[in-house]
Amino acid sequence: MDAPKGFEYHYNPITGKTILRPIKGFSEEYLIEETFVPEKEVKEVESEETDNKTKNSNLHSAKNAKYDEFYTRIEDICEELKHYKEFFKDKVVYCPCDKVFNLGRSEFFNYFANRFHQLGLKKLVCTQYNPNGHGYKKEVEYSKNGIEWEYNGEYEDGTDIDESMVDTTFLRGNGSFDSEECIELMKEADVIVTNPPFSKECFRPFVKQMMELDKKFIIVAPINSLTYKDIFPYFKENKIWLGYRNVNRDFYFNITDEYKTRIVKEKKEGSGWKEIGGVVCGRLANACWFTNIEHSKRKEELYLSESYSEEKYPKYDNYDAIEVSKVEDIPCDYDGVMGVPITFMGCYCPEQFEIIGLMSGAKDESLVNGNDGRPKFYVNGRGVYARILVRKKQKGE
Ligand SMILES: C[S@@+](CC[C@H](N)C(=O)[O-])C[C@H]1O[C@@H](n2cnc3c(N)ncnc32)[C@H](O)[C@@H]1O
Repeated sequence: MDAPKGFEYHYNPITGKTILRPIKGFSEEYLIEETFVPEKEVKEVESEETDNKTKNSNLHSAKNAKYDEFYTRIEDICEELKHYKEFFKDKVVYCPCDKVFNLGRSEFFNYFANRFHQLGLKKLVCTQYNPNGHGYKKEVEYSKNGIEWEYNGEYEDGTDIDESMVDTTFLRGNGSFDSEECIELMKEADVIVTNPPFSKECFRPFVKQMMELDKKFIIVAPINSLTYKDIFPYFKENKIWLGYRNVNRDFYFNITDEYKTRIVKEKKEGSGWKEIGGVVCGRLANACWFTNIEHSKRKEELYLSESYSEEKYPKYDNYDAIEVSKVEDIPCDYDGVMGVPITFMGCYCPEQFEIIGLMSGAKDESLVNGNDGRPKFYVNGRGVYARILVRKKQKGE
C-alpha cells in the first residue's frame, strides 16, 4: 500500500514494526488538516463499526469547539507536573485528546518524551482525534522485543527524542476518547494526562470514563465543571481534587494563528489574550487542573485569620448556614455550616474541612436546595452564586 502524501513507511529494526512516519521537511500542518484514509484502513474500519462510532463528538457544539484550539503551554505543564514527579516511575502514561505530529505536536508529548528516562517511564502513548477519518497514535516504549532503550543524553533540551523508539500509526477509528480502541488504551495505562475538550458533552463523559476505569489522572479542566451534578460527588467524597496550581491565576494557552488574528481584533489584551514572550496566548480565567494523585498542597491547612460576627457573616434567608463570599474571609471560630465560593476547592484540605454539599442554583436531589424549595440561597432577598457548603472539622474528627 502506498503511504499517504507526506508520509513514508519505515521498517523499525528496534521495534520490529513497519511504521508510518512523516517525511522530514513536509508541512505537517497540511497533514493534520488533510483527511486521508488509506484503502486498507477503510475496510478495517467498515468492519469495526463500533470503533468509529463516537458517542459524544457529534454533540460537540461549535461554541465549545473554539476551546479545542487551546493547547497547553510547556511552562504550565512543567509547573504542575513537577509536583507529581515521583509518581511517574515505571508508569504507562496515556495522553488522549492530543496532537501527535512533530509540527504542532502537543507539549504533553514533548514533556514526557523529553523526560522519559528522568521520570523512569515505561511507556508513553498519545492519540489524536480526527473527526473526519482515522485518528493517530504515537507511542514510545522503554523496552520492546526485549531491547531496552539506552538514553545517551542527546535529546535533553530539544523537542525531539530518539525517533527510532517512536511509532506513529493510524488508529482503526477516529481516536475519540470514548471509542473502543481508546478505551483499551486507557485501560492499559496507569495514568492519564491531558487537556480534554471542555464542552459539557465531552468533559463529563471523559471524567466519568476515567473514574469508572479507576484510572489516576492529571487533566486541565474548567473549574465550574466541579459543580456538575455527576462530577461534584467525586469532589465531595475526596476522589478528585484540584491540582497544585493557584485557581485564582489566569491560565494562558497556545492558540492557532487564525485564532490569534481573530482574538487580537475582537478583544483587548488582558481580556481574551495576552502576549507572553512575544507570543499571543489565549486566556481562560476559569481553567485549572483536576487530579486524583496526592500532592503536597492538599495537606496544607488554610490559615484562617478572621473572627466570626453576626453582622459580617449573615445567615441565608432559606438555609441554616452563613454566607462567606471570599475564601480568605472564612472565620477561624465558626463551627457551623458555611457557604463558600467554588474556588475554595483550590485550598481545600480534607483534614481541616468536611464538604457537606453543593448549592449550584439547580434543582436536583443530589444538590442542596433552600429550605423553602428554591434551588438558590438568598441573603436579605439577594440570590448568591454557587456555593460549596463546608464545615470545619473538630479535633479528633
Ligand atoms: C483543548 S485541546 C487540547 C489539546 C492538547 N491536549 C493540548 O493540551 O495541547 C482538546 C483536544 O481534544 C480534541 N477532541 C475533541 N473531541 C474529542 C474526542 N471526542 N475525543 C478525543 N479528542 C477530542 C480536539 O481535537 C483538541 O485537539
